Amino acid sequence: MKALIAYVLLSIGSALAACQPAIVADRSELISEGEAIYTTSCARCHHGDGSGYRNLFPPLAGNPLVTLHDPVPIIRVVQDGRGSMPPFRGVLSSEEIAAVLTYIRNSWGNEAAPIPPRQVRD
Ligand code: HEC
Repeated sequence: MKALIAYVLLSIGSALAACQPAIVADRSELISEGEAIYTTSCARCHHGDGSGYRNLFPPLAGNPLVTLHDPVPIIRVVQDGRGSMPPFRGVLSSEEIAAVLTYIRNSWGNEAAPIPPRQVRD
């Protein structure tokens, strides 16, 4: 129980940290940069509205993996690829990956903290 409370408090702490004004400005920049990248690099499989294609490409809208507090799993999928999804390491920069992931985390009803470019390592 103590661990759970500590975890909740930590999550609230980082959510509050993500609300500092400087980061809010970065957030909208990341989202608009990310939208352009999504249209060029991702929409052909995941669909412009994030709904994916049944049995072929998973939806990103309403997908709990996309809005996980810990962004590492989706950073890995985009960098390394998985199944029939191609890897984007070397294709998109760390900043571009941060932008497109911040976009998908905050579109189509999804809501999650932005991903700072420094969190995406090459
Ligand atoms: C050629 C088609 C294709 C393209 C282009 C593509 N994806 Fe994917 N994506 C997939 C497939 C297929 C999977 C499922 C992989 C698996 O688990 O086998 C996937 C999985 C994902 C997942 C994990 C979802 C989950 O539930 O496992 C994320 C996040 C994701 N893609 C984001 C992106 C982003 C962001 C881009 C653009 C930079 C992108 N994808 C481009 C086909 C694609």
